[in-house]
Amino acid sequence: MCGIIGIVGASPVQDRLIESLKRLEYRGYDSAGVAGFTKDGVQRRRASGKLKNLEEVLAAQPLEAVVGIGHTRWATHGPPTEGNAHPHHAGRVTLVHNGIIENFAELKARLQAEGRTFDTDTDTEVVAQLLDRELASGKAPIDAFKATLDQVRGAFALVIMVEGEEGLLLGARRGPPLVVGYGQGEMFLGSDALAVGPFTNRVAYLEDGDYVALSRDKAQIFDEDGKPVERPVQVVPQSPALMEKGNYRHFMEKEIHDQPEGCQRTIAAYVDMVAGATTFEGVDLAGVERIQVVGCGTAYLAGLVGKYLIEPLADLPVDVDVASEFRYRQPALRENTLTIAISQSGETADTLAALRYCKDKGLQTAVVVNAQGSTMAREADVVWPIYCGPEIGVASTKAFTAQVSVLTALAVAAARARGRIDAAEEKRLVGVLVEAPRLIAESINLEEAVQGIAHEVSKARDVLYLGRGPMYPLALEGALKLKEISYIHAEGYAAGELKHGPIALVDEETPIVILAPYDSYFEKSASNMSEVMARGGQVVFITDPEGERHAPAGAKVVVTAPRCDPLIAPLVMSAPIQLLAYQVAVQKGADVDQPRNLAKSVTVE
Ligand code: F6R
Repeated sequence: MCGIIGIVGASPVQDRLIESLKRLEYRGYDSAGVAGFTKDGVQRRRASGKLKNLEEVLAAQPLEAVVGIGHTRWATHGPPTEGNAHPHHAGRVTLVHNGIIENFAELKARLQAEGRTFDTDTDTEVVAQLLDRELASGKAPIDAFKATLDQVRGAFALVIMVEGEEGLLLGARRGPPLVVGYGQGEMFLGSDALAVGPFTNRVAYLEDGDYVALSRDKAQIFDEDGKPVERPVQVVPQSPALMEKGNYRHFMEKEIHDQPEGCQRTIAAYVDMVAGATTFEGVDLAGVERIQVVGCGTAYLAGLVGKYLIEPLADLPVDVDVASEFRYRQPALRENTLTIAISQSGETADTLAALRYCKDKGLQTAVVVNAQGSTMAREADVVWPIYCGPEIGVASTKAFTAQVSVLTALAVAAARARGRIDAAEEKRLVGVLVEAPRLIAESINLEEAVQGIAHEVSKARDVLYLGRGPMYPLALEGALKLKEISYIHAEGYAAGELKHGPIALVDEETPIVILAPYDSYFEKSASNMSEVMARGGQVVFITDPEGERHAPAGAKVVVTAPRCDPLIAPLVMSAPIQLLAYQVAVQKGADVDQPRNLAKSVTVE
């Protein structure tokens, strides 16, 4: 979950390392550091906290180098101090690392017994010490590196400088991704294609277990057995504009506003608007007997929305599991089950492990993914991309609605393939779906209405979110969004569960957000609303015009989203909860795009 970059350059690299780290900061921002070969040998500059702190250090003490490495950290072992900031150094070795060295304690004890002393609390330093030890035994850098890799266990990506080898960087990938960037007389290594995007759009994705020796004009790649291999060089589309905030204050705000377009482009990929039909390639939806969804966080919740859509429409059982639990609970899998992994980044360690688990069990796997060059996209049997553009804000917004868009189209496609609906009904539902982007845009216009309540909510200690049917996963998502960016304790519940416990939390101080469009669940949700208000609860009622007309009087605030077909209600009702979380976080002065302790791409278990 850290971001790493290495440049074997033909011109100074300091500013380019920083430019790249800015693109990687979404992976972690506990500390940052760079190192390079200078005329005074290898030099490091490091700072705890955000990248801007490192920039201040560099302004005072520039790093004059044409070959260098950089790192932005999400702390796993050792607090986020400058001392624990990467790059780490031992003897001839200076390196940056993303991931976890699982056997570091055992290796550290061994190295300490040999008389080596450690400067940090990190698991990473053990790799620097080990490699230095192998080099000291007289091995060539690439052989010493292989010998080191053979001793470490865990999930990691590494970029390494070796003193005395000024034109060389070593890299390795086991688990977290690492890409090789091919420039003009320069070469790059980075955590993802975005990291090397400002310098080149020609990249090769290392396979799991690969390691590489990078010089100014070539990359020599080896597989885990030490066999030289070629990895295809691909041209990746890069639009710098996609990385900019434009006129928005935060990426999250921009990404909320990107949703109509992101959903429109995504939906267009899965429907034929002229024929009024859905188009899902690669899977026999008529023959599938069960769907197993795996994902984490918001992606998991998108899957849960999918369950509420697919099961009733297509009469197809859908199990949805939190990926970190899935393989450890030894799930009872059956033949003809289609696994669908959902992941914005395509790199989340638990989701990837769950995908591989299902593949190993012989199940067909599909991934709903944003990063098309990601590990999951390369490993799944079928790739169903979302087309919302890179998501930079740590709190997921446009990826969520794009994922839900795919699952909504899938519900229609599965229903048609299984004979649950006829062509005319499919056409009607496709018509409904293509209307969603316009209605999402209308929903985003509720920004001002939401701003009115954000001030109240920002003072709360706890907030409850309630919903029934497809609004239940949305209630969970609303609570997740609020807690992760505003640090207010929030819980989502199925509204019917209220009286089985959470109602004890209701008092005059607790805002209760109820999501209830005027659908088949509305009357029951309205009863829950009355129960809450009878106990002094302050209700924020998110509904549609019809729901507003039928709602019991007494809500503190009513937010009226546009009326829509129930098929697309999860899409249309998402913006108000995202905007509420966003506005509350802004009111509280929180760091919206980089909430504390979080990172965008979680490549450790
Ligand atoms: C919450 C959020 C996370 C991610 C989760 C999975 O706003 O962004 O919960 O949804 O970490 O990430 P991906 O989708 O990259 O697998």
